[in-house]
Amino acid sequence: MISRDTIEEIRNRIDIIDVISDFLTLKKSGSNYKALSPFANEKTPSFFVVPAKGIFKDFSSGKGGDAITFVMEHEKMGYTEALRYLAKKYGVDIKEERQTEEGKAEQSEREGLYILMNFAKEYYRKQLTGSEEGISIGLSYFRERGFNDRTIEKFELGYALEGWENFTKEAITKGYNKELLEKTGLIVKKDDGSTYDRFRGRVIFPVHNISGKVIAFGARMLGKDKNQPKYINSPETDIYHKSDVLYGLYQAKNAIRQHDVCYLVEGYTDVISLHQSDVSNVVASSGTALTESQIRVIRRFTENVTVLFDGDSAGIKAALRGIDMILKGGMNVRVVLFPDGEDPDSYSRKVGTTEFQKFLKDHTQDFVSFKAGLYASEAGGDPIRKAESIKEIISSISQIPDAVKRSVYIQETSSLLKIAEPVLLSELNKILIQERRKAEKDKPREQHPEESIPVVPEEIEPNKLDVQGMVQLQERETIRLLLNYADKAVEEHKLTEFIMQELDDVTFTNPVYKQIYEAFKDGAIQGNVTDSNSFLKSSSAEVKNTVTELITARYDTSKHWNSKNIFFSKESEIVNELALSNVLRLKFRMVQKMMEENLQKIKEAERGGSWEQLEQTLIDQTGLKDAERELAKLLGIVVAK
Ligand code: CTP
Ligand code: MN
Repeated sequence: MISRDTIEEIRNRIDIIDVISDFLTLKKSGSNYKALSPFANEKTPSFFVVPAKGIFKDFSSGKGGDAITFVMEHEKMGYTEALRYLAKKYGVDIKEERQTEEGKAEQSEREGLYILMNFAKEYYRKQLTGSEEGISIGLSYFRERGFNDRTIEKFELGYALEGWENFTKEAITKGYNKELLEKTGLIVKKDDGSTYDRFRGRVIFPVHNISGKVIAFGARMLGKDKNQPKYINSPETDIYHKSDVLYGLYQAKNAIRQHDVCYLVEGYTDVISLHQSDVSNVVASSGTALTESQIRVIRRFTENVTVLFDGDSAGIKAALRGIDMILKGGMNVRVVLFPDGEDPDSYSRKVGTTEFQKFLKDHTQDFVSFKAGLYASEAGGDPIRKAESIKEIISSISQIPDAVKRSVYIQETSSLLKIAEPVLLSELNKILIQERRKAEKDKPREQHPEESIPVVPEEIEPNKLDVQGMVQLQERETIRLLLNYADKAVEEHKLTEFIMQELDDVTFTNPVYKQIYEAFKDGAIQGNVTDSNSFLKSSSAEVKNTVTELITARYDTSKHWNSKNIFFSKESEIVNELALSNVLRLKFRMVQKMMEENLQKIKEAERGGSWEQLEQTLIDQTGLKDAERELAKLLGIVVAK
C-alpha cells in the first residue's frame, strides 16, 4: 500500500490543469478552463476545470471530482494506479507501507496486465540491444530502415528472440503466472493445454495508450517468408481495445495540439519515419479501417486531420473511406497524395527532412479539390464520368454535420467544377432525404409524421447565414403560407389553425412579420379566416409592401429543381408538406438562436458569475442542444452530436 505521507505529498504537488492537459486541450475561459468532454461525443464544450478549487466537472456525463478522479475515470485506472501515475509524473518517491498478502491480491487485474506488458516491453528492448541475435538481426534491420537511436528509444522498439518459450521462461522466473501471461496475449495456449510465445524472431513495436503505458505489441517479420503474416499483433484484452487506439498518439499528442492538425498514416513505420523527419504530429490507424471512436480520440486534440497516403489505387480507396468517416465526425479533412509507389515512410527517407516538409506543405489539398482532381484525371472529357464525380463529391459533403460548412463546400465545388449551386444543392438534398428515409426505416418505432417532408433548398447567401437571418427567413415563409393558403387543409386542420397550434409558444422576431402573424391569430381566435386583401386596405406601408410581395411572388419551384429532379409541379398540391417543413424549420432556427443567446450568458457567467449561474446556463444549453437534435432528426438534417 502507498503510505499516507506519499499520498499527501502527491496531492500537494498536483496541478489539475497540468494533469488534465496531458489528455485534453484546455482552453482558458475566464478564471476557469474548458474543453470538449472526453466522456461524450459533443461539439460544444461542457467539460470545465476550476483550478482554484482543484476540481473538474463534466456536464455531459455528470462526472466530476479532483485530479486523481480524473485520471481514474479517463484512464480507467484504480486509485493506487492513478496515484502511481501521478507520483511518477511529479517525481514523488513512493513509500510503501508493508505489503500484505491481501494487499497483493487486491491489486487490480488491470494493474497486473499493465505491469506485465511493461515487463515484456523492457524484456524485448533488452534483447534488441543486449543479445547477439537482437543486435545482428533486429537492430541491423532497424538501421537498414534508417531508424536512429533516439527513435528506437522514443518508440521503445524491441526484438523477440527466435524460439518457442524464451519469454515465457523469463516471465515465470520473475514470478508472473501463466494465467496472466495468457490474458495479455503474450503467450498462446494450444488445444492440448501447452503454450508458446506469441512473438518470435520479429522486431517489436509497442503500442502505448495516451498516458504512455504499453497496452499491446505489433511484431514485424524480418525475412520474406510468404507463408507468414507480415505483422503479428496482440489480441484484444481488458486493456487493449483495438478500435479505440491510434498508434503513436502518446508520442504525438503535444505536437498535434501545438500545430492544431493531426497527420494520419497507415502503419507503424510511417509514423516513425515522419518523426525522424521532424514531423511528430502523426498517428496511424494501424492497418484497420479508421473507426468512429479513433476519430473522437483525435478530436480531443484538434479538429483538423490531414490524411497521408500512397498514390496506388488501394491507398486511394482506403483514403476515400477515411475521408467520409472524418467528415462525419465533424472534422476538417485535408489530403496529401504521394507519388505512385511511394508511402509516407519511403518518400520521407528518399527526399530527406527539408524537402519532405516542403512537400507536405505544397501538396496539402482540401478534400473537394482532391476528389475533383482525382475524377477529372480519370474522366477526361467524358460527361457521364464527370456527373459521377460530382455525385461522389456531394456524397462526401452530405456527411458533414454542420449545415454552414456544407454550404461553404457546395460553393467551392460550384466554382471549382463550374456547376450552378442550385443543381449541387438539389443533389445534396436528395442524398439527405434518402439518408433520412433510411434512418427512419432502421428505427421503425419512432413516431414521425407519415408524410415525408421535402427539404426545399433555402436560398443560401453567405452573408445571410447568421442565425437571426435564418429565423427571419422561416418567419417570412410562415407568413407567405398564411397569406396564400390560409384555408388549405393541413393535417386535418385549416393551415391557419395548424400553424397557430404548432407555433403556440413562438414569438416572431421581425416586427412586420409579427404584426401580420398577430392579425391571423386574432382572426383564428374569433373564428374568422383572415383575408390577405384586408391587409392592403388598412395597414402601414411596410405591412402592405410585404404582403404584396408575398402574395405575388409565388414560390417558383422549378427555379430550384432542374428538369430531372422535379419532385412536384404545383405548390398548392404540397401545402401540407410545406407547412410541416416550415414549422419544424422555424422551431429549429429559433432553438439555434436561443443557443447563441445562451452562449453569451455562459460566457458572462464564466467571466464573473457564480458557479451556480454557470451550471444553470450549461444545463440550459444541453437542453437546447437536445431540442435542436430532435428537430434536425425530423427535418432530415444531420447536426453534430
Ligand atoms: N498490418 C497488420 N498486419 C499485416 C499487415 C499490416 O497488422 N499483416 C498493419 C500494421 O499495423 C502496419 C499497417 O497495417 O503498420 C500498414 O501495413 P504496411 O504498410 O504493410 O506495413 P508498414 O508498417 O508500413 O511496414 P513496412 O513499411 O515495413 O512494409
Ligand atoms: Mn510501409
